Amino acid sequence: MLHFNTMSFTLQRQPYVVFGAGKVSLLPELLGSYGESVVIVTGGKTLERSGTIAALYERIQRESTLCRHVAIDGEPSPEVIDGAVEACRDSGINVVAALGGGSVIDAGKAVSAMLPSREPVERFIEGLPGYCKPDGRKVPFIAVPTTSGTGSEATNNAVISRTGKNGYKRSLRHDAFVPDMALLDPELTLSMPVGLTVSSGMDALTQLLEALVSPDGSPFTEAVALNGLEYVAAYFSRACRNGEHDIEARSGMSYAAYLSGVALVNAGLGIVHGFASSIGGYIDIPHGRLCATLLHAATAENIAILRQQGIRGDGVLASYAKAGRLFAGDTYLDDDEACDALLEKLESMQEELDIPQLGTFGFRNGDVDRVISRTRNKSNPAELDGNSLRRILLQRL
Ligand SMILES: [Fe+2]
Repeated sequence: MLHFNTMSFTLQRQPYVVFGAGKVSLLPELLGSYGESVVIVTGGKTLERSGTIAALYERIQRESTLCRHVAIDGEPSPEVIDGAVEACRDSGINVVAALGGGSVIDAGKAVSAMLPSREPVERFIEGLPGYCKPDGRKVPFIAVPTTSGTGSEATNNAVISRTGKNGYKRSLRHDAFVPDMALLDPELTLSMPVGLTVSSGMDALTQLLEALVSPDGSPFTEAVALNGLEYVAAYFSRACRNGEHDIEARSGMSYAAYLSGVALVNAGLGIVHGFASSIGGYIDIPHGRLCATLLHAATAENIAILRQQGIRGDGVLASYAKAGRLFAGDTYLDDDEACDALLEKLESMQEELDIPQLGTFGFRNGDVDRVISRTRNKSNPAELDGNSLRRILLQRL
């Protein structure tokens, strides 16, 4: 527990949240509260594949004066964002809504952020040459997730990707870019295939665990992360097994994923997400799969280093232990036993969920040094040197 004489933190704004099965039918009315010119962002094939979203889109078209549709395939590149903004810019757009997974929500967030600007999005992407901080102007944005993973519906950044030799996976970020509204309807996630349920759920789990032990956290983020982990422990494997028919499990995972976004935007993330940035721009590997493959090895390395340093009690190991007791369902474990229980659980999940190794995606031994040199370790609870980073990667080659 942090004590009041040492406590110091800030909390980001949060979206207005509407949560519940069937609530997506409120979208036309919620859009109308902002105005009658709208942009709807979806995945490339969503309108053909989802009867619910296609019917909703028709209703929005009928009820709006102007309705533009932006279809996004894969992770958004700068060209895709600039093209979408160009097509919509002079239409007096009142509101943008994105219905989809993390990439679609990020694309919608970026389009809403760039509509008032006359410049290409790459000027505002963190870490690129000539970076210019966004001024926070944007068009109101509603996020409607159809997966349970990234928590992008609660965060202040949009990840923009360029793959290839000079590739990157970096953020367009401003506190004002937190969505104005998050419409969370677990029914939209019922049809997620097992592979996507696994990878998006592992992303949410990684975010909750990394935020829980972040040195930049607060009592608020600890409470949020633990609550999210409670729902992951109760519902993740149910959602993976029989998700198509289990609205209770899907609701639990939608809620956990939202909390993972709240936790990460306020606490930051650890080394798994450090690798997500360095490896993600280098080889083409879906974000959730990268988190899934590295989570156990990275957590084991963190716990080993923290044990060597002998920091116990109210420290990070105690936080890992709280997560361990949740997953073990045993409140009587001491901190050491609970940390071991957490590692056992993460390792067994890796096997049960058949998580592929990095090599499956074309990552090779010869890539390790280059990735380590580009990996940042910002909100990780332990100082990890090059040897630690190498150990994590080599375990998962
Ligand atoms: Fe993530």
